[in-house]
Amino acid sequence: MTQTTMRIIKADNYDEMSQIAAEIFISKIKQKPDAVLGLATGSTPLGLYKNLIEDHQKNGTSYQQIHTVNLDEYIGLSKDNPNSYHSYMMNNLFKYLDIPQNHIHLPHGDAVDLLQECERYETIINDLGNVELQVLGIGKNGHIGFNEPGTPFSSKTHIIELKESTRQANARFFNHLDEVPKQAITMGISTIMKSKEIILLASGEAKAEATYKLIHGDLTEQLPASILKQHPAVTVIVDKEAASMLD
Ligand code: PGA
Repeated sequence: MTQTTMRIIKADNYDEMSQIAAEIFISKIKQKPDAVLGLATGSTPLGLYKNLIEDHQKNGTSYQQIHTVNLDEYIGLSKDNPNSYHSYMMNNLFKYLDIPQNHIHLPHGDAVDLLQECERYETIINDLGNVELQVLGIGKNGHIGFNEPGTPFSSKTHIIELKESTRQANARFFNHLDEVPKQAITMGISTIMKSKEIILLASGEAKAEATYKLIHGDLTEQLPASILKQHPAVTVIVDKEAASMLD
């Protein structure tokens, strides 16, 4: 078993998990109004984003100097495609904030030269001075970003073939499984590890096994999230269902 320095917070439910995550984000933004935030898509961070929007509207927390970089984007979908992660981020967060458009970064899933796009994205992150605070979800198979099991821990931004299980898990956002892209561009595992601070959110029964393995299992490329044991500043926030296999 590998020792971990990860801080584990057990929340009562999804709303509490989201609220705790939002408090960490808001306090980071207050402390560093020009921070680079690392953002994620999927169902898990929706409550976090809702809290950030409410706080912005009620308390005026400003995002004018904030920059954001997202973990990943589907290959083959343009920015305007309603299923692109660019659209997800606009609809679930950015359109409600005062963040300048040119401070928002996601990989371009429709780039003509995808390898060049990976390099461009990695350079953007480096040029911004790396991510101050990154939020992650976790896949049922332990993926972070779209880094599927077997991805080298040393990986930088790269093209990934999505596992069938991931495509099926994400099919709920599409009309049909056939429409779910087979490839994505994702920040690599070493890119994610350069973030100064990381919050991983896990909610629901479906994430209980991956959460258990993250906390109690070995460090292995077969569970990409296990690399987080080697990061000095990770907070894992879990709701009761996701924590159901923990002690
Ligand atoms: P989810 O996805 O939040 O939609 O469960 C998380 C992930 O696959 O990383």
